[in-house]
Amino acid sequence: IQGTSLEGQHYLVTAGGTREYLDPVRYIGNRSSGKMGYAIAQALTEAGAKVTLISTVNLKVPVGTEVISVQSALEMQAEIDKLFPQSDGLVMAAAVADFRTAEVATQKIKKNQNQGLDLQLTQNPDLVATFGAKKQNQKVIAFAAETNDLIEHAQTKLQKKHADLLVANDVSRTDRGFGVDQNQVTILEPGQPNETLPLLSKIETARLIVQRIIKLSVGEN
Ligand code: PMT
Repeated sequence: IQGTSLEGQHYLVTAGGTREYLDPVRYIGNRSSGKMGYAIAQALTEAGAKVTLISTVNLKVPVGTEVISVQSALEMQAEIDKLFPQSDGLVMAAAVADFRTAEVATQKIKKNQNQGLDLQLTQNPDLVATFGAKKQNQKVIAFAAETNDLIEHAQTKLQKKHADLLVANDVSRTDRGFGVDQNQVTILEPGQPNETLPLLSKIETARLIVQRIIKLSVGEN
């Protein structure tokens, strides 16, 4: 639709769960399949944007989308860092680990009698908050994955992460959120009423999120 497309804009989209390695064969991960991020990439492409997906998984890529493969939160951050200054926006659909192992063993960790293993974890940077604080004209869209008090937690994250939009989803249910093809989200925007969408396929959800992104960029013109 004329005047509502993202023609000529470049969006970065992150997808999948980060992997924080303990040793060459083991990692700490999470349940993210990447489906939500890929759906966002598809919907942005349909709206005319050029999309770079920064992804930890290999799913079917929307035509014309460039994919950069990463594993850990720090790798994801480094790739966003290279492209963010020239981009028009960032959508952080990836499930980024809050912690990584303090040290990655260079060889496979061996069992030691009947002893357990103590892992020392160190905090990862908050990627979206970092880029949210750095943004100039870019739109920054964060997600919030919650198991309780969804809107309350999402409201706090909207502010902390300097996000222009925040997409909140309940990840305590098996019919939405992680892994499945459907999602049910509430979109928060500073100064605007919350928009709760029905349970929809991830691509339909993504198209409605992209409508909100289009509104943000139109609002600026
Ligand atoms: O991948 P799927 O299986 O399709 O599932 C989709 C999803 C549930 C993963 C997705 O809809 C979703 O909610 N993604 C965000 C998951 C997440 O990490 O949520 P969070 O509430 O822990 O983090 C809030 C925001 O901060 C997110 O945008 C996240 O990308 C970002 N973050 C988090 C931690 C960190 N160290 N850096 C970050 O940038």
